[in-house]
Amino acid sequence: MNIYINGSFYPKEEAKVSVFDHGYLYGDGIYETLRAYNGYVFELDGHMERLKRSADLMEMALPMDEEGIKQAIYDTLFKNGLKDAYIRVSVSRGMGEIGLDPELCPVPTFVIIAKQFFDYRKELYQEGVKIAIVETRRNHPETLNPAIKSTNFLNNIFAKMEAKKAGAFEGIMLNHGHFVAEGTISNIFMVKNGELMTPPLIAGILEGMTRGLVIELAEKLGITVYEEMFTEAVLKDADEVFITNTTMEIMPVREVDDKVIGAPGKVTKMLAEAYRQEVLHYLKTR
Ligand code: PDD
Repeated sequence: MNIYINGSFYPKEEAKVSVFDHGYLYGDGIYETLRAYNGYVFELDGHMERLKRSADLMEMALPMDEEGIKQAIYDTLFKNGLKDAYIRVSVSRGMGEIGLDPELCPVPTFVIIAKQFFDYRKELYQEGVKIAIVETRRNHPETLNPAIKSTNFLNNIFAKMEAKKAGAFEGIMLNHGHFVAEGTISNIFMVKNGELMTPPLIAGILEGMTRGLVIELAEKLGITVYEEMFTEAVLKDADEVFITNTTMEIMPVREVDDKVIGAPGKVTKMLAEAYRQEVLHYLKTR
């Protein structure tokens, strides 16, 4: 495995960043997780836009322009001979003396890790997963704004630890107003009476690429979509629930805590199929 660091490739064992990197010292950085299908990076423009947005919200300069970053991503895929890949692009504030001031770090650290993508187990999609509502609240947008895809991930890690203890595949965080926000690495959707509902961005969540595409596909399929706040009780009363992200796409939920929602429902299946078709269409039109 060859890792891209600031314009050069290093074998995995030699791929190192400094202990003075503010990404390491303070979690001062941002990232994107992308997925390549058959050699093509899906939703690349959207991910680039979000990376830029994250950088702007952090008042951090990106190491190069968008075309340069895209090229570096494809170079990393090529260098590793990858077609179906998991790609992690991280940009940290960079190396600098100890201290919080970003000005201590003149050059950002830019890393790309790409590895073979292995599908989640089929049974998870067939049967659905268990999710747990955790005690850890999603960061208030006026603290560390969840809209920033930050490498400062403690909020989500605490939630993940709780989810693991509950034997759940994913932990769902409520926001400061006790409404459902999102998972540790995913957005959440519910279906009631054939209509789709997902928390709005103002709930304090990441604007997921998959979330955006699912909303678009649902509208094309004539499904009514509400971006509205809902409570844990409403979620548990749903006909269908699923979570989304770039790597798992649309993952059906069988159980929320101890409430059984059931096997993947009609709307979830329709959307999962539409998502598949969208990926195939993207590949055909390359
Ligand atoms: N996580 N919410 C959070 C907190 C996330 O970390 C993610 C993605 C999402 C879904 O975003 P998208 O659809 O763009 O993947 C929502 C990635 C997969 C990760 O952390 O690796």
